[in-house]
Amino acid sequence: MSNRPRWLRRPAGAAPALAYGADYNPEQWSRSVWHEDMRLMREAGVTIVSLAIFAWARIQPSPDTWCFDWLDDIMDLLHANGIAVDLATATASPPPWLTTRHPEILPVDHRGETIWPGGRQHWRPTSPVFRSYALALVAEMARRYADHPALAAWHISNELGCHNAYDYSDDAANAFRDWLRARYLTIDVLNHAWGTAFWSQRYSGWTEILPPRLAATHLNPTQQLDFKRFSSDALRAYLRAERDILHEHTPSVPVTTNFMVFGETRAMNYAGWARDVDFVSNDHYVTPGPQALDELSFSANLVGNIAGGRPWFLMEHSTSAVNWQPVNLVKRAGELVRDSLVHVAHGADAVCFFQWRQSVAGAEKYHSAMVPHAGPDSDVFRSVTRLGGLLRELAPVAGSLREPAPAAIVFDWESWWAAEADSHPSDRLRYRQEALDWYTAFLDLGIRVDVVPHGTSLAGYRMVVAPILHLLGAAAAERLRGYADTGGHLVATYFSGIVDENDHVWLGGHPGALRDLLGVRIEEFEPLRDGEQVPLDLGLVATLWTERVRITGTDVAVLARYAGGELDGHPAVTRRSTGAGSAAYVSTRLGHPGLTRVLADLAARAGLVSDLPRAVRRQVELVVRATGPERFVFLINRTDSPVTIADVAGTALIGRVVDGAVELAAREVAVVRLP
Ligand code: GAL
Repeated sequence: MSNRPRWLRRPAGAAPALAYGADYNPEQWSRSVWHEDMRLMREAGVTIVSLAIFAWARIQPSPDTWCFDWLDDIMDLLHANGIAVDLATATASPPPWLTTRHPEILPVDHRGETIWPGGRQHWRPTSPVFRSYALALVAEMARRYADHPALAAWHISNELGCHNAYDYSDDAANAFRDWLRARYLTIDVLNHAWGTAFWSQRYSGWTEILPPRLAATHLNPTQQLDFKRFSSDALRAYLRAERDILHEHTPSVPVTTNFMVFGETRAMNYAGWARDVDFVSNDHYVTPGPQALDELSFSANLVGNIAGGRPWFLMEHSTSAVNWQPVNLVKRAGELVRDSLVHVAHGADAVCFFQWRQSVAGAEKYHSAMVPHAGPDSDVFRSVTRLGGLLRELAPVAGSLREPAPAAIVFDWESWWAAEADSHPSDRLRYRQEALDWYTAFLDLGIRVDVVPHGTSLAGYRMVVAPILHLLGAAAAERLRGYADTGGHLVATYFSGIVDENDHVWLGGHPGALRDLLGVRIEEFEPLRDGEQVPLDLGLVATLWTERVRITGTDVAVLARYAGGELDGHPAVTRRSTGAGSAAYVSTRLGHPGLTRVLADLAARAGLVSDLPRAVRRQVELVVRATGPERFVFLINRTDSPVTIADVAGTALIGRVVDGAVELAAREVAVVRLP
């Protein structure tokens, strides 16, 4: 990245602070409400809003008409109230006149069905027609607001790929062919990569190639994988097209777009996207369930590492319930504040919600907001105001970096895509769940861990867990070997190192790419049926997947064995010493708490220690941000009861240190500044 501004534009001399606010949709309200909004925003401590995200139809009511007066007024009003604007380019959802005039911008699904207007984001990422209209709007916005004093950042589109990541239209087919030509150069290379000797799929020219549309049976796996890669890249190319216009018109205004690193959202390979924006932003919505808080922390952690450890912007999360889950749970007392501060702990320097004021009409009228239907006399608004105060007290944290943890979990979108493809040994395997279970195990043990995109330098990490790193090229495998050979402690799991970048199997016994490093060899995968379990010694239980592991290397210790059934006595968890380092293998799904036991053993052998007293592990998450010698320790009470953490030296920015101990109320967060 260049020397462009990496954070919000601020008035000269303004002290660093954490930003606070929401998506703001004043076009849904009368002007009298706008004035109440300003008063309440000030009361809540709001410092920034994202504006005009879904305002295209209002800004450009017909092809040749621009209607900016309302936007001018609200920009001025916000500025007069000291509130900065993260201004959307307004291209997220095309207006009805555009789709009526140009139905050829509408996406098409894999069956050839048109995705019609009526919702939002009904546009093809590769449509040249959509692009020409959208980029004209971007240029118009940039010219109009370049010098507006409220403008702090540009917000490109909205959640690129949220509803339109996979488009199978003819535009997509053409762009896919171009993308493939650039990747493979000749059709012969593509034929090899796609393994088209199989099922008579050999192509004799580029025009014969199609997206993976509805087919008679299992589609070519590499075609599917490449279409996923292409679709992510197509959105990225669109992102860059908007960004380039903004950079040209307003070089001193940073540009961002909101990623969706949460839950099962998987279509965008965000690993490289940070390079395309001036600062990273993310949206996060809680996935209800026993690991809800673990998942929140996992996602925030990954975003922080996508951002390279620099501060990032939490663009959206919810004050309470959403409207799009089967059952939409409210946040319990304390969760609004705690959930927000988990993001700050992992590097967020801005905390924003969807949305400021709860809508009275439209599909999201039951989605919570900072000002709910009940109005400001509500628990939600009181929590919102409380959070505003806490963020002000946390101003010293602004600008600090994530302090690297001693361990890392490698996260790889391509392995996610490839491992969960169809026509595999089991369709029950869940990539992200396996990674999350390891994260939960680290939380259980109170050992700090970074979730890092595959390709991140592993130097400096004492231990690296690579769950289901299914797709592994020769160079990446070599890097893992180098990591372990030079003193790192690698942990690999089942179905890792099985295929190369083309999704071709590494031959000679699994896991081909890691076989020598791990010192094990597997001839067949032996997945389990639903509900089937295989006991291991040490009281562990295998589900989902088993393997007949044979030790082939030297210095391989067996840490756990299958105990019962066909695999009775065979190794299940192994660890090979490699000079100063090691390479461990977990051949089955142990889930939580099984992984916690295995990790405790592996971590102890690697010399990893917890930062937390034993009594509060699992109950408390500890995260560190740092600026130079100054460290900020976030202590997050994950439980519904009070917790006391002994032996804390330092002064509290928020929370209480009493006689050298931090006392946390249920779901409370303390931030302690260490000298
Ligand atoms: C996001 C989106 C917002 C809003 C929100 C509701 O996906 O960017 O506009 O729809 O979800 O949770």
